[in-house]
Amino acid sequence: MRPRRRLRLGLRARVTAAFALGALVLSASMSIITYAAARQSTLANQSAAVLRQAYVNAALVRSTLRSPGADIVGLLGSLDTVPGSNSVLYDRGRWYATSLGVGQDAISPAMQDLVVTHGAPARQYHQVGGVPQLEVGLPVPEVGAAYFEVFSLQDLQRTLRILALSLAGAALATTVGGAVLGRWASGRALRPLGEVAEVAAAIAGGRLDTRLETADEADLATLASSFNQMADNLQARIEREARFTSDVSHELRSPLTTLATSLGIIQSRRQELPERSRQALDLLIAEMSRFQHMVTDLLEISRFDAGAAELSLDEVPLDEVVRQAVRVTRAPDVPVEIGPGATALVVRVDKRRIERIITNLVDNAYTYAGGATMVGVEAHEGQVRLVVEDAGPGVPAEDRRRVFERFSRGSTGGRRGDGEGTGLGLALVTEHAHLHGGRAWVEDRPGGGSRFVVELPASGP
Ligand SMILES: Nc1ncnc2c1ncn2[C@@H]1O[C@H](COP(=O)(O)OP(=O)(O)O)[C@@H](O)[C@H]1O
Ligand SMILES: [Mg+2]
Repeated sequence: MRPRRRLRLGLRARVTAAFALGALVLSASMSIITYAAARQSTLANQSAAVLRQAYVNAALVRSTLRSPGADIVGLLGSLDTVPGSNSVLYDRGRWYATSLGVGQDAISPAMQDLVVTHGAPARQYHQVGGVPQLEVGLPVPEVGAAYFEVFSLQDLQRTLRILALSLAGAALATTVGGAVLGRWASGRALRPLGEVAEVAAAIAGGRLDTRLETADEADLATLASSFNQMADNLQARIEREARFTSDVSHELRSPLTTLATSLGIIQSRRQELPERSRQALDLLIAEMSRFQHMVTDLLEISRFDAGAAELSLDEVPLDEVVRQAVRVTRAPDVPVEIGPGATALVVRVDKRRIERIITNLVDNAYTYAGGATMVGVEAHEGQVRLVVEDAGPGVPAEDRRRVFERFSRGSTGGRRGDGEGTGLGLALVTEHAHLHGGRAWVEDRPGGGSRFVVELPASGP
């Protein structure tokens, strides 16, 4: 299968974006429709009002101008107009206006031509100095006059602009609201998924008895029950395997003891045996010891697997514990160096496990590297390090991880081993270290050889 292209946005971000976009589209279209309708109806209303008033005024102009010697200025003053509207009168070649600012110039030439010359009523929108206005012109042919009304749309324009701004603000607020809602909803919807991830991580981290609790999420009931079922099976299986190893090791112990005792008896009669039987006996004894070692290590490691390994913590002076541990190894004379800050350092550790770590590492150095050159205790950034150095062949870089795995024996183990190794020693070192909340690794020793390091938290696990 070809790998799908990875989406950059997370699920939550995508849901949030979708909500915001939805809210934006909806509110923007609502706003645009509202604005267009409001503009349309206001304009229509105003224009009808102006037109109505213009007809009334034109009629008044006609009746007044019919009587000879009519007072035109008085006539203009008596005309009634819609607020914001101004009257302009044309009478036999002369122009009169009610307002100083709005005179003949305010009326477009085309309009003047249409109404005055051709005697046709007209209405049009026209821009004067950037201000939109509505012009209505009505001819009064009986007296050779024309009546105009000029209505400024500036106020209307301002009102519409405020409306547009408010609508845009509302659309923006709705979009933000949509995003917030999307974030909240996706958070709620994805919460059970987060729980699943947490529980899976817990199980992967070794807490095998962790289970999902999603009884209240009907949609996830199937997922939860299958998940828990899987975890049950996994736990049962791991426990069964751990128990199997431990059972087998236990079962092997008593026949092994019997065998060892019998071998001891034969060994005491070694001198009476012919040469070839003696060689066979030596082989048997070596293999026997290896076997017993392996069973002891297997029992130990199966306790880790069953989760039954418990730390028995004591406050101990680490340098003393290390010195004592070295004394019971195969190389009891290895110098022990206590680094600065580690002298008389008291730490909370499991003494037996620290001894096992040292024994394993010093014995390995004896077997594979001609003996340890130094065993050290060092303080390092809130941690303590147990160090075992040797001047042997070292561990090749590609083997450094593998030698800590179970039953893994490095190439030197195969070549130079004394037949006692089982490949469990360093795996146990790692387990002991992990139990303390620490870790173990091997690196190059400056000047040749290897340097095994076990790092433990100084403040206890
Ligand atoms: N000090 C050392 N120098 C070189 N190789 C080593 C050293 N210690 C361990 N090894 C390698 O690591 C392997 C694993 O060691 P270990 O887990 O103790 O198992 P075992 O000793 O039973 O072989 C050994 O077989 C050996 O090849
Ligand atoms: Mg070993």
